[in-house]
Amino acid sequence: MSWDAIIRPDLAGLEPYRPGLRASEVRERTGRERVIKLSSNESPYGPFPSAVAAIASIAPRLNRYPDGSSRALRRKLASGLGISAEEVVVGAGSNELLRLIAQAVLTPGDEVVYAWPSFVVYPMVCGTFGVTAVPVPLKDGVHDVDAMLAAVGKRTKLMFLCNPNNPTGTIYGREAFAKVLAGVPEHVLVVVDEAYFEFVTSAEYPNGMEAFDGERPLVVARTFSKIYGLAGARVGYAAVPKPLAAAVDAIREPFNVSSLAQAAAHYSIDDEAEVRRRRASNQEQKAYLYSSFDRLGIRYLPSEANFVWVVTERPVEAFEALLAEGVIVRGFGAADALRVTVPSAEDAPAVAAAFEAVVGRLGSL
Ligand SMILES: Cc1ncc(COP(=O)(O)O)c(C=O)c1O
Repeated sequence: MSWDAIIRPDLAGLEPYRPGLRASEVRERTGRERVIKLSSNESPYGPFPSAVAAIASIAPRLNRYPDGSSRALRRKLASGLGISAEEVVVGAGSNELLRLIAQAVLTPGDEVVYAWPSFVVYPMVCGTFGVTAVPVPLKDGVHDVDAMLAAVGKRTKLMFLCNPNNPTGTIYGREAFAKVLAGVPEHVLVVVDEAYFEFVTSAEYPNGMEAFDGERPLVVARTFSKIYGLAGARVGYAAVPKPLAAAVDAIREPFNVSSLAQAAAHYSIDDEAEVRRRRASNQEQKAYLYSSFDRLGIRYLPSEANFVWVVTERPVEAFEALLAEGVIVRGFGAADALRVTVPSAEDAPAVAAAFEAVVGRLGSL
């Protein structure tokens, strides 16, 4: 029998998402006790204490389904964002929301514009829904909004903007964002992906929510996976105009966000002091990485996120050499770069020492 007659033929070329190596795999491969995982832009610290307590309190009641509408969390997020609860959607990570929003708007023949390199899920979404991906190269590591606007045509339905951009950590500024909003036609939904929003310190950064009015076709997506340390719980949210939120609600899984994730997110929001501490720690350790890289002659792009794009002429060798030193970073195929998540204060000296050893071995990066 042939599966060709059963599986959608247009899925044939699609690759599954490849997560970074897990620490346990590398421990096995290298025999090293201490392995530092800097490949998935996770928080090096655990969930907030209030989230851990909330999860513990929910655990005995896991025989019950969660609130399918994430009502309490939606209300809480809405009041923080200054919008109505009907304009908030909650998903199993913002990843699920990016897909659901795409599913709600895309039909075959549509085009999706996004910068490249950027978050790998954007091309994956295009593949899933059989639409045409229109990647627009970054210019000097930053979204080239003029080129992105020029790439918009009659068939464009969606534009992803990733700010800060994964994997480069760069941001586009207020002026660029205003230009996109003014220049994009009404039939294009702009999805601003702000997964790393809470790490940003630049005054030039345009908070996507400032442009959200519930009318124009604009979505702002954020997550609890990064600064809140809840990547394993799978919970993210988006501000979405009401008609689109209703469409997403109609197509999502009935119980898409677990009760553990809803509670963990709900109680994390209250601890603003912890968010500030983690942002400050990220800044400190990022500065430490920069100074180590400067000392070693390693080139990188200044980042507004919790990761740094390190430029290297030998990404494969450098990746393997760092692995041998017990540090897992992220490679990007043919790109002459590696992405390094900012480590904890405890791990940072070992990470700097690993880079030093690799530069010593390879001559340069
Ligand atoms: C730019 C960007 N958007 C969205 C996500 C999705 O995060 P999650 O699904 O864990 O909320 C990530 C995760 O790495 C990301 O880098």
